[in-house]
Amino acid sequence: MEPFKYGKPVTGRYFINREEELDRLYQVACGVKNGSEVNTALIGLRRTGKTSLLHNLIERLEEDKEIIPVFLDCYGIPSQNTFSKLLTERVKDAYVKKTKDMGYGERIKGLLKKKTSEILSKTSEIEVSISHYLSIRVGLQEGKEDLWEDSLKYAEKIGEDKDVFFVMMLDEFSDIGMRWGENFVKRIRAIIQHQSRCMYILTGSAVTYMTELVESESSPFYRQLNTIKLDELPSDVVRSFVGERLDIGEKELDRFVEITGGLPDYTQRLGYILYHKYGEEKISMEKLHDAYDEMLDNLEMEFKETLNRFNQRSGVYGDIILSLPHHERISRIAEEINMPQSALPNYMKYLMRVGIVKKKERGVYRLTDPVFNDWVERLEEPTMVPYGGASPA
Ligand SMILES: Nc1ncnc2c1ncn2[C@@H]1O[C@H](COP(=O)(O)OP(=O)(O)OP(=O)(O)O)[C@@H](O)[C@H]1O
Ligand SMILES: [Mg+2]
Repeated sequence: MEPFKYGKPVTGRYFINREEELDRLYQVACGVKNGSEVNTALIGLRRTGKTSLLHNLIERLEEDKEIIPVFLDCYGIPSQNTFSKLLTERVKDAYVKKTKDMGYGERIKGLLKKKTSEILSKTSEIEVSISHYLSIRVGLQEGKEDLWEDSLKYAEKIGEDKDVFFVMMLDEFSDIGMRWGENFVKRIRAIIQHQSRCMYILTGSAVTYMTELVESESSPFYRQLNTIKLDELPSDVVRSFVGERLDIGEKELDRFVEITGGLPDYTQRLGYILYHKYGEEKISMEKLHDAYDEMLDNLEMEFKETLNRFNQRSGVYGDIILSLPHHERISRIAEEINMPQSALPNYMKYLMRVGIVKKKERGVYRLTDPVFNDWVERLEEPTMVPYGGASPA
């Protein structure tokens, strides 16, 4: 069997060291049944394993007959109406799948075949949640706005109709929260605070944004969310996970932990490459570094996209990111990219908000992801400059 796995969320034997977080999440999720539900923020940098944790929660909830988990990845959802459509369908499908109430889905299908006017004339005869569902679908067809509010109320309606409960997982909520702004977040909060059949888990890798969402006095969710934070894996956990799967010595294990930063994603990636390149062979330092180079190559596209995403906002972001592996002080960065130092804090603030940069101390910053940092650092080496930078004669 494969000793390592990456590229999609992991469960079972590939999922390590998050038992405590999973237990806590499971406890609050179950609270929805006795009215003690607490909405929860799950905060962790990219690649720390947030989505995997949610998948494990879904697995654990399988035994529970009354709780229906709904999972929606919010990252990159282009518009509020798309959010509305996706959420509505997820809720319906999750309900039908869990309860095997096929009739529910069939009734909806049947009604959708009828003309809009006919549907609307019938709403008094059909179940509340079904007529709610249909009104969203009709609204979407007619291009109505703000339907996402109705979508957010849909699970609650099913809950009341059918005496079931929902755990609503909005993965990468920070992405839509930041894009759609404070008013959107405020209205979400207003809607979900009155729901008694739904509890929400909002995740985000934009760590500063998420932390402010929970802790800032001006946030609509101020003191309203239970918080679970995911960090990198403790080094002894990484060491034993890798040590059990590869023939690798102490010094190399130290180095393994150092270059991956203990991030679950990189731990699995690097382990995977090592295993497939060298199998049962003893892992030397050289082999380790070879595999690491290969990992960086594999990540090239992703990292370029990350950089591009910032460049599209403004080239200043890209320039700051490129200079961060070399200069930590804001004064030096300003010099390096030819900007007045007074202009930088605002840019830094955004970079920290989305989680790509962290502050070490006053005026001193670094990239949060050690592997991305390495990749960026290597860009400066003449042979690797991909943007047509001048190479020395
Ligand atoms: N608890 C864990 N134990 C071992 N490996 C893990 C664990 N959690 C995650 N991983 C590894 O990290 C990878 C990324 O995990 P996941 O997608 O859950 O992270 P994420 O925080 O949701 O990342 P992103 O910010 O990119 O959405 C997985 O494919 C897996 O290889
Ligand atoms: Mg994720």
